[in-house]
Amino acid sequence: MSELPSPEKVNALLRSRSSIFPAMYTDEPISDEIIQDLLENANWAPNHKKTEPWRFKVIRGAARQRLADFLGSTYQRVTPQESFSEQKLKKLSTNPIKADTVIAICMQRDPAESLPEWEELAATAMAVQNLWLTATAYSLGGYWSSPGLIAHLGPFLNLAEGERCLGLFYLAHHRAPEIPRERGDIAAKVEWMTE
Ligand SMILES: Cc1cc2nc3c(=O)[nH]c(=O)nc-3n(C[C@H](O)[C@H](O)[C@H](O)COP(=O)(O)O)c2cc1C
Repeated sequence: MSELPSPEKVNALLRSRSSIFPAMYTDEPISDEIIQDLLENANWAPNHKKTEPWRFKVIRGAARQRLADFLGSTYQRVTPQESFSEQKLKKLSTNPIKADTVIAICMQRDPAESLPEWEELAATAMAVQNLWLTATAYSLGGYWSSPGLIAHLGPFLNLAEGERCLGLFYLAHHRAPEIPRERGDIAAKVEWMTE
């Protein structure tokens, strides 16, 4: 069996993962090999009934501008005037270009519905965590974006029957400073039952 990282190294990796947003991205390129490694690790997520429901669309190079244009025009088309925001439009139509790569996070529902949908959503989220932790190990920054607009991404992503987009994972090298992470006390979320 290959050598496992020490618990201390695992702790450090898990606790240093964070959401890093496009304002902090640099244009240093990410190699195809690294992207492939992220995807390979995503593929090792646990899943019930071996449905392996995660699907990823890797949007790189010129396809990022196509995504930016699609997000911008879709936002303009579907947003009611009273909730329209110029700032939101600008972000949607520039963020994909700030990232080196955008990975659309998708879930393929088991056609036989042999398990509840939530289990496939959970498995896909675990795949994303694998991808995110691997990105952290490579000192890459990223975050899971889930705007309401993802419901309209079908035509852009060529979604298959039963496939659903759960968000966009923005990924890049970055210059974000290390900031102390914040979490509420785990003790408040745990009940020990010993008898
Ligand atoms: C399923 C999911 C969807 C998310 N969607 C968004 C989003 O639409 N916009 C955003 O700014 N952050 C989004 N996030 C990132 C969270 O805001 C972020 O993970 C949270 O603030 C905790 O920060 P951390 O990732 O640095 O620990 C999402 C995270 C998850 C897990």
